[in-house]
Amino acid sequence: MALPGARARAWGWTAAARAAQRRRRMEGAGGSPSPEPGGPRAALYVHWPYCEKRCSYCNFNKYIPQGLEEAAMQKCLVTEAQTLLRLSGVQRVESVFFGGGTPSLASPHTVAAVLDAVAQTAHLPADSEVTLEANPTSAPASRLAEFGAAGVNRLSIGLQSLDDTELRLLGRTHSASDALRTLAEARCLFPGRVSVDLMLGLPAQQVGPWLGQLQELLHHCDDHLSLYQLSLERGTTLFAQVQQGALPAPDPELAAEMYERGRAVLREAGFRQYEVSNFARNGALSTHNWTYWQCGQYLGIGPGAHGRFMPQGAGGHTREARIQTLEPDNWMKEVMRFGHGTRKRVPLGRLELLEEVLALGLRTDVGITHQHWEQFEPQLTLWDMFGANKEVQELLERGLLQLDHRGLRCSWKGLAVLDSLLLTLLPQLQEAWQQRAPSPVPGG
Ligand SMILES: C[S@@+](CC[C@H](N)C(=O)[O-])C[C@H]1O[C@@H](n2cnc3c(N)ncnc32)[C@H](O)[C@@H]1O
Ligand code: SF4
Repeated sequence: MALPGARARAWGWTAAARAAQRRRRMEGAGGSPSPEPGGPRAALYVHWPYCEKRCSYCNFNKYIPQGLEEAAMQKCLVTEAQTLLRLSGVQRVESVFFGGGTPSLASPHTVAAVLDAVAQTAHLPADSEVTLEANPTSAPASRLAEFGAAGVNRLSIGLQSLDDTELRLLGRTHSASDALRTLAEARCLFPGRVSVDLMLGLPAQQVGPWLGQLQELLHHCDDHLSLYQLSLERGTTLFAQVQQGALPAPDPELAAEMYERGRAVLREAGFRQYEVSNFARNGALSTHNWTYWQCGQYLGIGPGAHGRFMPQGAGGHTREARIQTLEPDNWMKEVMRFGHGTRKRVPLGRLELLEEVLALGLRTDVGITHQHWEQFEPQLTLWDMFGANKEVQELLERGLLQLDHRGLRCSWKGLAVLDSLLLTLLPQLQEAWQQRAPSPVPGG
């Protein structure tokens, strides 16, 4: 997956250098396959499903552990990684992302074991991006350093807010000062490779104070930042509190204003908005997430993990969407029995894949280049689909979209209203697809 800038960054810190050295040793170890670089490649997502406490807004697949046996969990993650790498025929893993749940609660040995298994089953280049989501904590830094020694070279910290009242509302276990301390420690260990998540659009949150938080964060943050608008999810405590009138409903207009003004502040501070919610400076884009937006292949291991890849063998050439079993104990039983806990496999049709290429590609500032589109659909070009359409023309004239020799992309203005643009673009893609000349190329 081409990503200008991020890969060329120098690694200037000891833990990461040690981890790279360790991985180079593994790559050189006897029995380790050294496939050619041109073989199938993918990103790997690893889901750690446990948290210390449920946050009031979160409906991710997470559990509060009751007597967790980490050794068994570790074994299953290793087994599933090996199985899916073999099933997919993936020879090169470009990035690994430990997400959750709270993977910073896992043991660094577990992280190291998964990375070792990947390096022994496929090629894991020494400079691959290896990210771990970390929750702020009052715990000492040593654990972050241990994750570095285990092979992690990038951290994504769920800071969420710099206001203690908001943090309590969200049910977070940390204070704003814990978050800033964790961030400072992370930056010492992983300079240039630390991201923070900041939420916006919380109940009762006002634009001015939120912008104040963002400005404050700019004094402390590294080169990557994600802004997430609160999505009020059914089944969460926050949803119930809003339903019962204990809290005001989040105001979408205020959230839109926070987003609009927040991204202008970040632009002013030298950050590139390279995706709808993601901002980076000094080329510190996330290669892992870039793979998602470019519709690259990715394997998902761990309870409830999602993946998208083309299984090998049996003449298969169709990409599948895969979901692993949600509940950790059931997932472990399945992994022990079958080598993997895949619960659902859905073959993606060619049109579905193209819809993903369009909707995900347009989330990035680069959009969809003609060359990129051609890799998925060589016959129906972006010009064919959108060049002569009146509604698309109107979006181009309103300065929301750009279609030119490079490809199709959102303008700065358009990126903020992508969902509404897709309401025009997706039906147009579907219509052009129905009317195309039948293609001799099979599968997806
Ligand atoms: C699911 S968490 C996992 C990482 C880690 N446990 C944490 O809390 O930061 C990843 C990110 O998802 C975002 N998130 C979770 N639920 C959300 C929601 N309902 N609306 C918006 N963002 C949400 C949070 O900002 C969080 O940083
Ligand atoms: S936001 Fe993070 S820490 Fe909170 S419950 Fe969800 S996954 Fe766990």
